[in-house]
Amino acid sequence: MKSKMWFALLTLLILLIGGCSNSKTANEVSNKSMNMVHEGMDNMTNGHMSHTNPLQLAPSTGENELAIPPLLEPDGENPARYSITAQEGTTEFYQGVQTETYGYNGSFLGPVIRVQSGQTVQFSTTNEMSKDTTFHWHGLEIPGEGDGGPHEQIKSGQSKTLTFNIRQQAATLWFHPHPEGQTAEQVYKGLAGLIYVEDENSQRLGLPNQYGVNDFPLIFQDRQFDDQKQLNYQLFKNNDGTIGDTLLINGTLHPKLSVRQEPVRLRLVNGSNARNFTFKLSTNEEFQQIATDGGFLNSPVPLKKLTLTPGERAEIIIDFSKLSTSADLALMNEEDVVLLPFTIKNEQTTPKKMQDQLNTFSTTSEEQQLPVSKRIELFGMGTMVTINGKQFDRNRIDFVQQQGVTEIWEIYNKPDMMGGMTHPFHLHGTQFKIVSINEQAPPLNEQGWKDTVSIEPDETVKLAVKFNDKGLYMFHCHLLEHEDNGMMGQVKVE
Ligand code: C2O
Ligand code: CU
Repeated sequence: MKSKMWFALLTLLILLIGGCSNSKTANEVSNKSMNMVHEGMDNMTNGHMSHTNPLQLAPSTGENELAIPPLLEPDGENPARYSITAQEGTTEFYQGVQTETYGYNGSFLGPVIRVQSGQTVQFSTTNEMSKDTTFHWHGLEIPGEGDGGPHEQIKSGQSKTLTFNIRQQAATLWFHPHPEGQTAEQVYKGLAGLIYVEDENSQRLGLPNQYGVNDFPLIFQDRQFDDQKQLNYQLFKNNDGTIGDTLLINGTLHPKLSVRQEPVRLRLVNGSNARNFTFKLSTNEEFQQIATDGGFLNSPVPLKKLTLTPGERAEIIIDFSKLSTSADLALMNEEDVVLLPFTIKNEQTTPKKMQDQLNTFSTTSEEQQLPVSKRIELFGMGTMVTINGKQFDRNRIDFVQQQGVTEIWEIYNKPDMMGGMTHPFHLHGTQFKIVSINEQAPPLNEQGWKDTVSIEPDETVKLAVKFNDKGLYMFHCHLLEHEDNGMMGQVKVE
């Protein structure tokens, strides 16, 4: 009872302080508020006030080898059938402690579903949880009725089967629930998995492609465990994005990754509710980005750092045969926190030669000259977030677009008195092209297929959008609490 009152008081304090500060990004905002929550909790439990910032991620000690999600084997070939079950369970993140979690075909996260472009696939989805859910295929080009938005609720105990063709090019996609107002909590507790699309191109490029050997998925998620080591979402929930001090990669706490001295492909997925990640190497050396959300870049783009907002993916190549083999080689974030230490194994390999041209992506001059036909304004914070001044209404269609017709969507992130926040804007059912960011060409590493784009306050982004299928699709902020709070709209493709 007493602690509840404290919590209410603290929440009020957070609102007040949050409201007066000059907040810029989700992380900063949440950092501030979470800091307060934690100081409050420390206060209650330890009786002292902490002045550190607990919302920095704790560095990985590297004591656990990174978990590699299982590959889900299909049943049959045409169609290739995959069974995916959302279930409740417990997971041992901390030795001897069972944490209550959700997962697909397991207790936390899910398998990798590897499909081939051109293939017919069947997904049999089952909800064995006590809560309703949906199965959304983020980045997949699929008819609206299979897309798994909030209209396609699968009640506890029910199943649904979808059959469709994979027509898009090779990419790293993911899947997660999308029930109205409940997405953030279900993802937080562990519902997320990966879809790899492969095609002829991806197989002939000479890229590292031995799953779990030189081709690794890395799902980055930050979490806050309570003092019982539970993922108590309601306790830590923040309407501007729930973040935590504890990093999980593929569900592994304090991970390390053992690699050989060869080029290694990392498929980076920002699967967190709200935290942005800027990745770099501890040696500050270069790596190559080879793919965006929905396909390969035309050629590898050398980078020293790379930012992914929630929902975004990137594939990178780190050539461990060329790096200075410093003992503390690691993937770090911008604040120099070690996310993933590498152990270099003393094994020789003869890597394949990687092609220089990976794709033939381009934005045509026609696309560049098309007038804007859909305008979107992102605005607000917390529970007051809006798109074009409105909050999500499942009975309201915001836009109509014709199948197969390219339109220019202009998204503007309108700042407020306090500056505003970065919003990762995501569109379902298709991959789009970024035509411009504030009238400038996007950076080289965003000149590729995208389904989620980070938009900073006062920034205007133009997208060339074409849907190859029909149906109802969502567009929304991928900061999951913003999505749940109604920063979402619907486009109907006819
Ligand atoms: Cu990854 Cu509508 O979401
Ligand atoms: Cu947002």
